[in-house]
Amino acid sequence: MTASSYENLLVSASEGVAWITVHRPDKLNALDRRTAEELARAARLVGEDPRVGVILVTGAGDKAFVAGADIEELAAMGPSEAEAFSRQLGEALRALERAPKPVVAVVNGFALGGGCELAMACHLRLAADTARFGQPEVGLGLIPGAGGTQRLARLVGRGRALHLVLTGEAVDAEEARRIGLVNRVVPAARLREEAAAYAAQLLSKSRSALSLALEAVYEGADLPLERALRLESALFGLAFATEDMREGTRAFLEKRKPRFAGK
Ligand code: COA
Repeated sequence: MTASSYENLLVSASEGVAWITVHRPDKLNALDRRTAEELARAARLVGEDPRVGVILVTGAGDKAFVAGADIEELAAMGPSEAEAFSRQLGEALRALERAPKPVVAVVNGFALGGGCELAMACHLRLAADTARFGQPEVGLGLIPGAGGTQRLARLVGRGRALHLVLTGEAVDAEEARRIGLVNRVVPAARLREEAAAYAAQLLSKSRSALSLALEAVYEGADLPLERALRLESALFGLAFATEDMREGTRAFLEKRKPRFAGK
């Protein structure tokens, strides 16, 4: 997981928190095939790394999180290459989404097209007040291809998603928060420290419980309610097989802070 294994990402980890930074500053961090491949690799490695409890995803610089897929690369693609790229980027985002630990998008500027899609594949979104979100693809003669037509509707509702996808209109961070696209908005100058505080809040919880909660929310979302509730019961039961559950409940009764082992 060294920085040198990536050309377009910076990946670092310390004290339980990993940062994945998309780093193509001259392209506003646009996602090309190489970056998609690297993102998939980083998501898997960091997702499996037991030393990492929280993953923060951001963009290099203070202007853009990710300004979309790389339009220069898209312009030269035919239909089958485009479909393959959509799948490749989709799998990279899915790898992040399936990580068994919280993944937070730290949105430091433009999150357009694939950038908005990358942010939506993260479990939580923290945005600088200067960030902007949108799916401008129809203005280029294409459509969102990395989950934008699906995750946006799930997050903000079909009506709002259709407005954003069909008009290509971008919204500012505050509007994104209002419609449920973003969890928190903070002043741009404080974004990294707020991200670290958010990560610390998550790290203070039981890792095994966080993983079970993510599984319940994501796996349950694809099931009919009856089966989803049964899945929740099963995962609720599984929590009772963990040391963390014994420690968390005991600590409450003993009026002290829990010391979670993460198992
Ligand atoms: N793909 C490839 N290159 C991109 C890019 C993208 N998605 N977004 C920005 N860039 C490049 C620009 O071409 C420019 O390169 P250049 O300096 O070689 O000309 C550089 O990044 C800086 O962008 P620029 O457009 O000059 O910055 P700006 O401040 O004027 O505008 C944006 C910022 C984000 C509004 C504008 O770059 C933009 O609209 N980008 C495309 C967004 C989009 O449609 N994304 C969806 C793609 S499917």
